[in-house]
Amino acid sequence: MSSEIPALTLNNGVVLPAIGLGVFQSAPEETAAAVHAAIEAGYRHIDTAAAYGNEREVGEGIRRAGIDRAEMTVETKIWVSDYGYEQTLHAFDKSATKLGVDVIDLLLLHQPMPQHFERTIGAYKALETLLADGRVEAIGVSNFMPHHLAALLESTDVVPAVNQVELHPYFSQPEVQLADAEHQILTQAWSPIGGITFYPGWGEHRRNVLEDDTVTAIAQQLAKTPAQVLLRWHLQQGRSAIPKSTNPDRIQQNIDVLDFDLSAEQVSVLDSLETGRRGGPDPDAVDPSSWGLDVPEAGAASS
Ligand code: A2P
Repeated sequence: MSSEIPALTLNNGVVLPAIGLGVFQSAPEETAAAVHAAIEAGYRHIDTAAAYGNEREVGEGIRRAGIDRAEMTVETKIWVSDYGYEQTLHAFDKSATKLGVDVIDLLLLHQPMPQHFERTIGAYKALETLLADGRVEAIGVSNFMPHHLAALLESTDVVPAVNQVELHPYFSQPEVQLADAEHQILTQAWSPIGGITFYPGWGEHRRNVLEDDTVTAIAQQLAKTPAQVLLRWHLQQGRSAIPKSTNPDRIQQNIDVLDFDLSAEQVSVLDSLETGRRGGPDPDAVDPSSWGLDVPEAGAASS
Protein backbone atom coordinates (compact mmCIF):
# COMPACT_ATOMS: atom_id res chain seq x y z
CA MET A 1 0.00 0.00 0.00
CA SER A 2 1.14 3.54 -0.54
CA SER A 3 -1.60 6.06 -0.06
CA GLU A 4 -0.79 9.76 -0.02
CA ILE A 5 2.30 10.67 1.93
CA PRO A 6 1.58 13.56 4.31
CA ALA A 7 2.47 16.97 2.96
CA LEU A 8 4.38 19.58 4.95
CA THR A 9 3.90 23.26 4.21
CA LEU A 10 7.14 25.23 4.12
CA ASN A 11 7.48 28.73 5.55
CA ASN A 12 6.88 30.24 2.09
CA GLY A 13 3.72 28.20 1.45
CA VAL A 14 5.32 25.61 -0.84
CA VAL A 15 4.14 22.08 -0.10
CA LEU A 16 6.63 19.23 0.35
CA PRO A 17 5.82 15.51 0.62
CA ALA A 18 7.22 14.53 4.03
CA ILE A 19 9.02 11.45 2.71
CA GLY A 20 11.30 11.61 -0.28
CA LEU A 21 13.74 9.20 -1.85
CA GLY A 22 17.36 9.91 -0.93
CA VAL A 23 20.08 9.07 -3.44
CA PHE A 24 23.25 9.76 -1.44
CA GLN A 25 25.74 7.04 -2.47
CA SER A 26 23.35 5.67 -5.10
CA ALA A 27 25.61 4.76 -7.99
CA PRO A 28 24.67 6.68 -11.15
CA GLU A 29 23.89 3.43 -12.97
CA GLU A 30 21.39 2.45 -10.24
CA THR A 31 19.88 5.85 -9.64
CA ALA A 32 17.47 6.17 -12.57
CA ALA A 33 16.00 2.74 -11.79
CA ALA A 34 15.64 3.61 -8.09
CA VAL A 35 13.92 6.90 -8.89
CA HIS A 36 11.61 5.18 -11.34
CA ALA A 37 10.75 2.47 -8.77
CA ALA A 38 10.13 5.14 -6.13
CA ILE A 39 7.70 7.05 -8.32
CA GLU A 40 5.86 3.81 -9.12
CA ALA A 41 5.66 3.16 -5.37
CA GLY A 42 4.08 6.58 -4.78
CA TYR A 43 7.03 8.85 -3.98
CA ARG A 44 6.70 12.39 -5.32
CA HIS A 45 9.87 13.84 -3.83
CA ILE A 46 13.51 13.05 -4.65
CA ASP A 47 16.50 14.49 -2.80
CA THR A 48 19.85 14.65 -4.55
CA ALA A 49 22.89 16.94 -4.59
CA ALA A 50 25.37 18.22 -7.13
CA ALA A 51 28.09 16.48 -5.10
CA TYR A 52 26.42 13.06 -5.41
CA GLY A 53 27.19 12.96 -9.12
CA ASN A 54 23.79 11.53 -10.04
CA GLU A 55 21.55 14.52 -10.85
CA ARG A 56 21.42 13.50 -14.50
CA GLU A 57 20.14 10.04 -13.55
CA VAL A 58 17.56 11.51 -11.16
CA GLY A 59 16.16 13.51 -14.07
CA GLU A 60 16.24 10.44 -16.27
CA GLY A 61 14.36 8.37 -13.66
CA ILE A 62 11.63 11.00 -13.42
CA ARG A 63 11.24 11.15 -17.19
CA ARG A 64 11.29 7.35 -17.43
CA ALA A 65 8.39 7.17 -14.97
CA GLY A 66 6.39 9.35 -17.35
CA ILE A 67 5.00 11.40 -14.50
CA ASP A 68 3.85 14.98 -14.88
CA ARG A 69 6.78 17.16 -13.78
CA ALA A 70 4.40 19.35 -11.78
CA GLU A 71 3.66 16.41 -9.49
CA MET A 72 7.29 15.98 -8.49
CA THR A 73 9.36 17.83 -5.93
CA VAL A 74 13.01 17.83 -6.95
CA GLU A 75 15.47 18.84 -4.26
CA THR A 76 19.19 19.33 -4.83
CA LYS A 77 22.14 21.03 -3.19
CA ILE A 78 24.93 23.36 -4.22
CA TRP A 79 28.37 22.01 -3.37
CA VAL A 80 30.89 24.21 -1.51
CA SER A 81 33.29 24.50 -4.44
CA ASP A 82 30.52 26.48 -6.18
CA TYR A 83 29.96 28.95 -3.31
CA GLY A 84 30.13 32.68 -3.94
CA TYR A 85 27.35 34.68 -5.61
CA GLU A 86 28.24 34.30 -9.29
CA GLN A 87 29.52 30.74 -8.89
CA THR A 88 26.27 29.65 -7.26
CA LEU A 89 24.15 31.23 -9.98
CA HIS A 90 26.17 29.17 -12.45
CA ALA A 91 25.87 26.07 -10.24
CA PHE A 92 22.09 26.39 -10.51
CA ASP A 93 22.44 26.21 -14.31
CA LYS A 94 24.65 23.12 -14.02
CA SER A 95 22.18 21.32 -11.74
CA ALA A 96 19.07 22.36 -13.68
CA THR A 97 20.62 21.26 -16.97
CA LYS A 98 21.70 17.89 -15.56
CA LEU A 99 18.30 17.32 -13.97
CA GLY A 100 16.62 18.44 -17.20
CA VAL A 101 14.33 20.93 -15.43
CA ASP A 102 13.73 24.68 -15.76
CA VAL A 103 12.74 25.16 -12.14
CA ILE A 104 14.25 23.41 -9.11
CA ASP A 105 11.64 22.92 -6.40
CA LEU A 106 13.96 23.06 -3.40
CA LEU A 107 17.59 24.19 -3.60
CA LEU A 108 19.88 23.99 -0.56
CA LEU A 109 23.41 24.93 0.36
CA HIS A 110 25.02 21.54 1.10
CA GLN A 111 27.16 22.68 4.06
CA PRO A 112 28.14 25.85 5.82
CA MET A 113 31.75 26.76 5.08
CA PRO A 114 32.73 28.14 8.48
CA GLN A 115 36.25 28.81 7.19
CA HIS A 116 34.86 30.90 4.30
CA PHE A 117 31.56 32.11 5.63
CA GLU A 118 31.47 35.15 3.32
CA ARG A 119 31.34 32.74 0.37
CA THR A 120 28.53 30.85 2.10
CA ILE A 121 26.62 34.14 2.38
CA GLY A 122 27.32 34.96 -1.26
CA ALA A 123 26.00 31.54 -2.23
CA TYR A 124 22.84 32.03 -0.20
CA LYS A 125 22.28 35.46 -1.74
CA ALA A 126 22.38 33.75 -5.13
CA LEU A 127 19.66 31.38 -3.89
CA GLU A 128 17.62 34.44 -2.91
CA THR A 129 18.03 35.85 -6.42
CA LEU A 130 17.02 32.52 -7.98
CA LEU A 131 13.94 32.48 -5.74
CA ALA A 132 13.00 36.04 -6.70
CA ASP A 133 13.45 35.14 -10.37
CA GLY A 134 11.18 32.10 -10.08
CA ARG A 135 13.98 29.65 -10.94
CA VAL A 136 13.51 27.84 -7.61
CA GLU A 137 10.36 27.35 -5.54
CA ALA A 138 12.04 27.27 -2.14
CA ILE A 139 15.55 27.63 -0.72
CA GLY A 140 17.30 26.26 2.32
CA VAL A 141 20.42 24.91 3.92
CA SER A 142 21.91 21.64 5.06
CA ASN A 143 24.16 20.79 8.01
CA PHE A 144 23.68 24.24 9.53
CA MET A 145 24.11 24.30 13.30
CA PRO A 146 22.27 27.02 15.28
CA HIS A 147 25.26 29.39 15.23
CA HIS A 148 25.59 29.02 11.44
CA LEU A 149 21.88 29.75 11.10
CA ALA A 150 22.15 32.82 13.32
CA ALA A 151 25.07 34.16 11.27
CA LEU A 152 23.20 33.49 8.03
CA LEU A 153 20.00 35.16 9.21
CA GLU A 154 21.97 38.25 10.21
CA SER A 155 23.29 38.80 6.69
CA THR A 156 20.44 37.64 4.45
CA ASP A 157 16.74 38.34 3.86
CA VAL A 158 14.93 35.06 3.17
CA VAL A 159 14.64 32.65 6.09
CA PRO A 160 15.60 29.17 4.84
CA ALA A 161 12.59 26.93 4.29
CA VAL A 162 14.49 23.75 5.20
CA ASN A 163 17.54 22.68 7.19
CA GLN A 164 18.60 19.14 6.29
CA VAL A 165 20.76 17.56 8.99
CA GLU A 166 21.89 14.15 10.22
CA LEU A 167 18.99 12.92 12.32
CA HIS A 168 18.19 9.44 13.65
CA PRO A 169 17.53 8.16 17.18
CA TYR A 170 21.24 8.00 18.08
CA PHE A 171 21.76 11.63 17.04
CA SER A 172 18.64 13.73 16.92
CA GLN A 173 20.15 17.21 17.35
CA PRO A 174 17.47 18.69 19.66
CA GLU A 175 19.19 22.08 19.69
CA VAL A 176 19.12 22.24 15.89
CA GLN A 177 15.47 21.23 15.84
CA LEU A 178 14.71 23.96 18.36
CA ALA A 179 16.57 26.65 16.41
CA ASP A 180 14.85 25.55 13.19
CA ALA A 181 11.43 25.66 14.86
CA GLU A 182 12.08 29.15 16.23
CA HIS A 183 12.42 30.39 12.64
CA GLN A 184 9.71 28.17 11.06
CA ILE A 185 12.43 26.22 9.26
CA LEU A 186 11.46 22.63 8.50
CA THR A 187 13.96 20.13 9.86
CA GLN A 188 14.66 17.44 7.30
CA ALA A 189 16.46 14.28 8.37
CA TRP A 190 19.35 12.84 6.39
CA SER A 191 20.22 9.25 7.27
CA PRO A 192 16.72 9.09 8.78
CA ILE A 193 16.97 5.34 9.30
CA GLY A 194 20.54 5.65 10.49
CA GLY A 195 22.44 4.59 7.38
CA ILE A 196 25.36 6.63 8.69
CA THR A 197 25.51 4.23 11.67
CA PHE A 198 26.26 1.27 9.39
CA TYR A 199 27.60 2.53 6.05
CA PRO A 200 30.96 0.89 5.36
CA GLY A 201 33.95 3.19 5.60
CA TRP A 202 32.54 5.63 8.18
CA GLY A 203 34.41 4.36 11.23
CA GLU A 204 34.68 1.15 13.23
CA HIS A 205 32.72 -0.14 16.23
CA ARG A 206 29.53 1.68 15.40
CA ARG A 207 26.15 0.46 16.57
CA ASN A 208 23.62 0.00 13.79
CA VAL A 209 20.46 1.79 14.89
CA LEU A 210 18.31 -0.57 12.79
CA GLU A 211 19.60 -3.42 14.99
CA ASP A 212 19.09 -1.60 18.26
CA ASP A 213 17.19 -3.84 20.75
CA THR A 214 14.72 -1.07 21.56
CA VAL A 215 13.99 -0.33 17.91
CA THR A 216 13.61 -3.99 16.97
CA ALA A 217 11.34 -4.61 19.99
CA ILE A 218 8.99 -1.79 18.93
CA ALA A 219 9.07 -3.08 15.37
CA GLN A 220 8.06 -6.52 16.61
CA GLN A 221 5.22 -5.16 18.74
CA LEU A 222 3.84 -3.33 15.70
CA ALA A 223 4.64 -6.01 13.11
CA LYS A 224 6.63 -3.42 11.15
CA THR A 225 10.29 -3.23 10.19
CA PRO A 226 12.81 -1.16 12.17
CA ALA A 227 13.13 1.25 9.21
CA GLN A 228 9.36 1.77 9.16
CA VAL A 229 9.36 2.47 12.90
CA LEU A 230 12.05 5.14 12.48
CA LEU A 231 10.27 6.77 9.54
CA ARG A 232 7.04 6.84 11.54
CA TRP A 233 8.98 8.48 14.39
CA HIS A 234 10.04 11.27 12.00
CA LEU A 235 6.54 11.73 10.61
CA GLN A 236 4.92 11.90 14.03
CA GLN A 237 7.40 14.59 15.06
CA GLY A 238 6.65 16.67 11.97
CA ARG A 239 9.93 16.17 10.16
CA SER A 240 10.70 15.46 6.55
CA ALA A 241 12.81 12.34 5.92
CA ILE A 242 14.66 11.14 2.85
CA PRO A 243 15.52 7.44 3.28
CA LYS A 244 17.98 6.20 0.67
CA SER A 245 17.52 2.88 -1.03
CA THR A 246 18.20 1.41 -4.43
CA ASN A 247 16.29 -1.78 -3.62
CA PRO A 248 12.69 -1.76 -4.94
CA ASP A 249 11.30 -3.73 -1.97
CA ARG A 250 12.91 -1.42 0.57
CA ILE A 251 11.91 1.66 -1.45
CA GLN A 252 8.30 0.41 -1.23
CA GLN A 253 8.63 -0.48 2.45
CA ASN A 254 9.94 2.96 3.34
CA ILE A 255 6.84 4.69 2.04
CA ASP A 256 4.38 2.19 3.56
CA VAL A 257 4.35 3.91 6.91
CA LEU A 258 0.89 5.39 7.01
CA ASP A 259 -1.20 2.58 8.47
CA PHE A 260 0.12 2.59 12.03
CA ASP A 261 0.99 4.91 14.90
CA LEU A 262 3.67 4.89 17.53
CA SER A 263 2.34 5.49 21.02
CA ALA A 264 3.58 8.54 22.92
CA GLU A 265 5.61 6.15 25.05
CA GLN A 266 7.21 4.48 22.03
CA VAL A 267 8.12 7.93 20.66
CA SER A 268 9.75 8.96 23.91
CA VAL A 269 11.61 5.64 24.21
CA LEU A 270 13.04 6.27 20.73
CA ASP A 271 13.94 9.83 21.77
CA SER A 272 15.84 8.42 24.74
CA LEU A 273 18.26 6.51 22.49
CA GLU A 274 20.12 9.79 21.88
CA THR A 275 23.89 9.34 22.29
CA GLY A 276 25.03 12.89 21.48
CA ARG A 277 27.52 11.43 18.98
CA ARG A 278 27.23 12.21 15.30
CA GLY A 279 27.93 9.58 12.69
CA GLY A 280 28.83 12.01 9.91
CA PRO A 281 31.26 14.89 9.74
CA ASP A 282 31.04 17.79 12.18
CA PRO A 283 30.19 20.86 10.07
CA ASP A 284 32.60 22.95 12.15
CA ALA A 285 35.49 20.51 12.21
CA VAL A 286 35.72 19.85 8.50
CA ASP A 287 36.67 22.19 5.70
CA PRO A 288 34.75 20.57 2.86
CA SER A 289 36.50 22.79 0.33
CA SER A 290 39.62 20.74 1.07
CA TRP A 291 37.95 17.54 -0.19
CA GLY A 292 38.97 18.41 -3.72
CA LEU A 293 35.53 17.66 -5.13
CA ASP A 294 34.54 19.89 -8.04
CA VAL A 295 31.15 19.66 -9.70
CA PRO A 296 31.60 19.12 -13.46
CA GLU A 297 29.96 21.40 -16.00
CA ALA A 298 26.67 20.16 -17.44
CA GLY A 299 28.33 19.64 -20.82
CA ALA A 300 31.03 17.36 -19.37
CA ALA A 301 30.87 13.62 -20.03
CA SER A 302 30.13 12.62 -16.42
CA SER A 303 27.75 14.14 -13.87
P1 A2P B 1 19.83 -0.19 0.17
O1 A2P B 1 20.03 0.95 -0.77
O2 A2P B 1 20.55 -1.43 -0.24
O3 A2P B 1 18.37 -0.44 0.50
P2 A2P B 1 19.81 6.27 5.33
O4 A2P B 1 18.87 6.82 4.31
O5 A2P B 1 19.32 6.39 6.73
O6 A2P B 1 21.20 6.84 5.17
O7 A2P B 1 19.92 4.69 5.10
C1 A2P B 1 20.31 4.16 3.87
C2 A2P B 1 20.87 2.77 4.07
O8 A2P B 1 19.84 1.92 4.58
C3 A2P B 1 21.34 2.13 2.79
O9 A2P B 1 22.44 1.30 3.10
C4 A2P B 1 20.14 1.30 2.34
O10 A2P B 1 20.55 0.21 1.57
C5 A2P B 1 19.57 0.86 3.67
N1 A2P B 1 18.10 0.71 3.69
C6 A2P B 1 17.19 1.47 3.05
N2 A2P B 1 15.95 1.11 3.38
C7 A2P B 1 16.06 0.09 4.25
C8 A2P B 1 15.13 -0.73 4.94
N3 A2P B 1 13.82 -0.55 4.80
N4 A2P B 1 15.61 -1.70 5.76
C9 A2P B 1 16.95 -1.88 5.90
N5 A2P B 1 17.89 -1.15 5.28
C10 A2P B 1 17.45 -0.17 4.47
